[in-house]
Amino acid sequence: MTAVTIPGLEQAPTNHARLLAWVQEVAELTCPDEVVWADGSQGEWDRLTQKLVDAGTFVPLKKKPNSFWAASDPSDVARVEERTYICSVREEDAGATNNWMDPSEMKAIMTELYRGCMRGRTMYVIPFCMGPLDAEKPMLGVEITDSEYVVVSMHIMTRMGTKALALFGEDADFVPALHSLGAPLEPGQEDVQWPCNETKYISHFPETREIWSFGSGYGGNALLGKKCYSLRIASVMARDEGWLAEHMLILKLTSPENKAYYIAAAFPSACGKTNLAMLEPTIPGWKVETLGDDIAWMRFGEDGRLYAVNPENGFFGVAPGTDYHTNPNAMRTIAKGNSLFTNVALTDDGDVWWEGMGEPPAHLTSWKKQDWTPDSEELSSHPNSRYCTPIEQCDIKAPEWDDPKGVPISAIFFGGRRATTIPLVTESRDWQHGTFMGATLSSETTAAAVGKTGVVRRDPMAMLPFIGYNAGDYFQHWVDLGKRADADKLPKIFYVNWFRRGDDKRFLWPGFGENSRILKWAIERIEGKSAATETPIGYIPTAADLDLEGLDAPVEDIEAALEFNADEWRAEIPLVEEWFAKIGDKVPTTLRDQLETLKQRLG
Ligand code: GDP
Ligand code: PGA
Ligand code: MN
Ligand code: MN
Repeated sequence: MTAVTIPGLEQAPTNHARLLAWVQEVAELTCPDEVVWADGSQGEWDRLTQKLVDAGTFVPLKKKPNSFWAASDPSDVARVEERTYICSVREEDAGATNNWMDPSEMKAIMTELYRGCMRGRTMYVIPFCMGPLDAEKPMLGVEITDSEYVVVSMHIMTRMGTKALALFGEDADFVPALHSLGAPLEPGQEDVQWPCNETKYISHFPETREIWSFGSGYGGNALLGKKCYSLRIASVMARDEGWLAEHMLILKLTSPENKAYYIAAAFPSACGKTNLAMLEPTIPGWKVETLGDDIAWMRFGEDGRLYAVNPENGFFGVAPGTDYHTNPNAMRTIAKGNSLFTNVALTDDGDVWWEGMGEPPAHLTSWKKQDWTPDSEELSSHPNSRYCTPIEQCDIKAPEWDDPKGVPISAIFFGGRRATTIPLVTESRDWQHGTFMGATLSSETTAAAVGKTGVVRRDPMAMLPFIGYNAGDYFQHWVDLGKRADADKLPKIFYVNWFRRGDDKRFLWPGFGENSRILKWAIERIEGKSAATETPIGYIPTAADLDLEGLDAPVEDIEAALEFNADEWRAEIPLVEEWFAKIGDKVPTTLRDQLETLKQRLG
């Protein structure tokens, strides 16, 4: 029995023995002033947002109902891949693409960091469910956190509180996810507006399905249902159980003949998922509706097709570049309010502003809380600044977005941000070739992770920072799933690049709503209705094969965007070889064969 009495600890709204024991253990370790079980109610939202306003963390927006502006500590603005660990029992199971530490060693280090780390703060217990609440097997988790910002963000991003806790039957399994800002308060010590710790760890224990996060309050480091659970831990579950947990948007595309298709697309962070998910087609008669903008869980249905579900409940979208011209649906979604904005600029009349929104106002408060004018040298908003908004209020959400059955996927797109080499669109020859495309995907680094931006790196299936196990085993899992299913029932795989540049560095393809032309071509390929040319890297359309009616762009640019350039591809081969060498023995034979075939075709 414990000697410690912490207010609230005894008032648990559940009898789930394992959950109660864990909450007790964490409370005794971290020593919060009180324990509060999050219920997900409006009252809780109001109370916590007010608390954040009083603390100076939030500024209520006058121009958007029930919405708030926040600026993080300038050192806590993105995912920290350097500090992210996969602590599998065997190092080999984390593989060359992950940081690894022995689980007991990591737990020893982090236990000392957690000791007393919630002193002076409230410890919140957030029961949550990733994916629909009425799923056959609801995917449960509990995040413990000492951050009110995390609690209110989880209100938007997950199904949480009382409705999730109701699913915790006696023997219900759940993923325990422990988070602390690592910023205890001594008696009388004044809090800062964005508490965090210089020391950060984002640790995953794949065998025991646990998450331990310390020191950061931002995004994927702190909202543990997202990247930590729904990608890193879920990818391990998916490997063991024969499904896929992927960094993919899910959209519904309806043709003028009223035929609906579902498409999933994996692009690295800040490479266009949210924009494509909410696309407004520029071609008449075609319609896009949104199911998800970041994560897809895909399982085989009884009919042998791959069905996708979005585990999330909100969008955590990149703000800069979002505008009525590029992503009007995101703008309409956030205009309804009930949203959080972090690290964007604040206007004098109480609205948000960021780069890409047109003419800047004469004066702003920047994300660094400094005066900002159009003459300022610095950006008003951090490049990884985000809006956080409920899917529910997106006008173009597909009616089936919350259906536990999921939606059957017809096409998978892989894509990256490459100034050269990768054509606008390439169709794979088959699943195994498509898996090769995904496994060798490359992209220029962006501001979504701390580190240098614009450096080309391999980002397999856009999952480099999110594969919870050995990348070679992950490739094998993709190969195996393709063998398990009927070839004609598998989604067709395409490789896209919206970001190829001309000699003068401008983008060759206008992108955004115009990407509907590529979606149309892909669907018509599946239907056997559109043409393509076979090249050593796959099937590529000519400009004439695409519907370019009404497109305001020089045809030479489109041709340059579509070009297969053998020299550029020959230069790519050593990079792919280097990449496979890094992964090591576990690269599937099928993918090595694909590489050999590619080399032969390139001559
Ligand atoms: P996500 O992080 O993968 O969801 O990417 P977003 O959709 O939020 O986009 C990230 C950045 O890329 C934003 O600044 C967008 O404006 C920009 N972007 C998205 N789609 C396109 C496109 O088709 N062409 C170009 N040039 N930029 C795009
Ligand atoms: P996104 O998601 O950049 O893919 O939208 C957040 C992240 O990956 O950090
Ligand atoms: Mn993401
Ligand atoms: Mn996004």
